[in-house]
Amino acid sequence: MERFLVRDEIWWVGVIDWNLRDFHGYETPRGTTYNSYLILDEKVALVDGCREGFGPEMLARIRGCCGLRPIDYMVINHVEPDHSGAIPWLVEQLRPGRILCTKRAKDALALYHGSDTVDRWDLQAVGTGDELPLGRNTLQFIEAPMVHWPDSMFTYVSGSKTLLPNDAFGQHLATSKRFADEVDWYVALEEASTYYANILMPFGVPIRRMLDKIGEMGLEIEAIGPSHGVIWRRPEDVERLVAAYLNWTSFNAPERVTLVYDSMWHSTEKMTMAIADGVAQEGVECKVIKLSVSPRSEAAHQILESRGFLVGTPTLNNGVLPTIGGFLSYIKGLHPKARVAGAYGSCGWAGGGVKQVDEELRALGLDMLEPLEVKYAPSDAQLDACVELGRETARRVKAMG
Ligand code: FEO
Repeated sequence: MERFLVRDEIWWVGVIDWNLRDFHGYETPRGTTYNSYLILDEKVALVDGCREGFGPEMLARIRGCCGLRPIDYMVINHVEPDHSGAIPWLVEQLRPGRILCTKRAKDALALYHGSDTVDRWDLQAVGTGDELPLGRNTLQFIEAPMVHWPDSMFTYVSGSKTLLPNDAFGQHLATSKRFADEVDWYVALEEASTYYANILMPFGVPIRRMLDKIGEMGLEIEAIGPSHGVIWRRPEDVERLVAAYLNWTSFNAPERVTLVYDSMWHSTEKMTMAIADGVAQEGVECKVIKLSVSPRSEAAHQILESRGFLVGTPTLNNGVLPTIGGFLSYIKGLHPKARVAGAYGSCGWAGGGVKQVDEELRALGLDMLEPLEVKYAPSDAQLDACVELGRETARRVKAMG
């Protein structure tokens, strides 16, 4: 089975999940990969596992790289089941000499896979500053709590100057190519952005802390091998990706407004188009996402990449449409910051949907515009008010510059 030399003694021995279309609520139209890395030095170390069911594919790649040579160490950077689901099976097959992970990962592995299983492993907790010499390379461990879970850790391969940061810098992108410079760069960066928005946006502060810590540690990073998607190996790619992360963790965004809406009888839709026209009249780019035809993960992505967003809903039974309700729950969890935001929409006789959106967005501490609600269908005067709402949103977005 084909495997890939990443650089020096590091091999990619991961697996490709071409058919993944939903990652805990995040629509993944391009599938994903679960990347694992084998360092073939005087000692052999495997960094990260894969999702349950993909173990045989990974094992075939490992055997293709090193035959029946023993695996001295297995490093588990993160316990989420997309990385640790196949670990018990892989441990049975590979019988690694020792398994290394953070203390929190050790506890979580026992809860996921059972103490009876995990207690049989030679499991060692490691933390920031701990090192594991392999020969020409040394593995350096850096705890990365909340990037993505409390147990998360980065592994740095010193000889090859390669960072293996698990979820950080990943993308849900299935491809037979392994490197960002071998695929359409726009696609790789777009998927990195979508991944950050949908997986890592709530953890901007700890991620920024990690970026700063790596800077303070003076680690030279010539390549980044995340655990999903393609590997970044050209200096210019690493530089652009880190710059993008610095922007995202700072909640910087382009001068853009995103309108996220759904509609029952086209009234909220008419309002949306008028607002979009108002945004455009101010020379600001506008993205429009209708949640009954586009995934909420794309809306989250566009909110990351926009300085402002408005949410439009009709009223259904005194509340929002179910598509908007699901989106509000999702976006509250992702917790965008430093955004201009607002609510609009139509209602029949009682209203309630726009008020609910306004209250829920206000609770996120966003820079809120006054809500705009119309009864039944917008009149010409009300559509003019929608245009003005779009213009005002755009003006506020430009003022953030
Ligand atoms: Fe790729 Fe947090 O798991």
